[in-house]
Amino acid sequence: MKFFIDTANLDQIREAQDLGILDGVTTNPSLMAKEGITGTDQVLAHYKAICDIVDGDVSAEVISTDYEGMLREAEVLAAIDEKIVVKVPMIKDGIKAINFLSQNGVKTNCTLVFTPGQAILAAKAGATYISPFIGRLDDISQNGLELIASMSQIFAIQGYESQILAASVRSPLHIVKCAEIGANVITAPLSAILALLNHPLTDSGLAKFLEDHKKASGQ
Ligand code: E4P
Repeated sequence: MKFFIDTANLDQIREAQDLGILDGVTTNPSLMAKEGITGTDQVLAHYKAICDIVDGDVSAEVISTDYEGMLREAEVLAAIDEKIVVKVPMIKDGIKAINFLSQNGVKTNCTLVFTPGQAILAAKAGATYISPFIGRLDDISQNGLELIASMSQIFAIQGYESQILAASVRSPLHIVKCAEIGANVITAPLSAILALLNHPLTDSGLAKFLEDHKKASGQ
């Protein structure tokens, strides 16, 4: 399972990249705004800065909601760097745009997916990645992980090639469960990724090992 970081914060992207486990980055307009990135030139330059840090795919989201507008934006975004994946919302024009882009060699990420039916449409359109938002489903008392499990089963049976990119991941448990049920990729904040490191028995065990070593070597 690939690990993407879900942020536009360059320091956090560098930290995850330095850890050696990063396979890519996802952003969205809200994450860009959170970093104070506004205006087309600034946005495009920021995507380039992200591409220069990481080795893998970088999702850059279109703002247009009409087919022609999405294709215009996709052309500009895809020209930034070969790592760019054009992120397109799960709407009718978005599906048309994904179909066109995939047939023309542009990588796509279909975002804001909340049902297996939406995922099937995105897969039929040829999306490279499909992003089910599991945390936002949990927020409204629906089980986000059940959507990943359903997509996993459908994609295996139907032989769909799109990668299941579990998004809106909020916790280390989400990450572990996504790995168990067959997500191809998770995208998560740095805090959720780093939380995988933690266990109190690891901390106390290490403290004891170091203490015993110190005693044995007469320090
Ligand atoms: C992924 O592509 C989305 O940008 C992101 O995971 C949304 O997460 P949120 O629901 O925590 O905002």
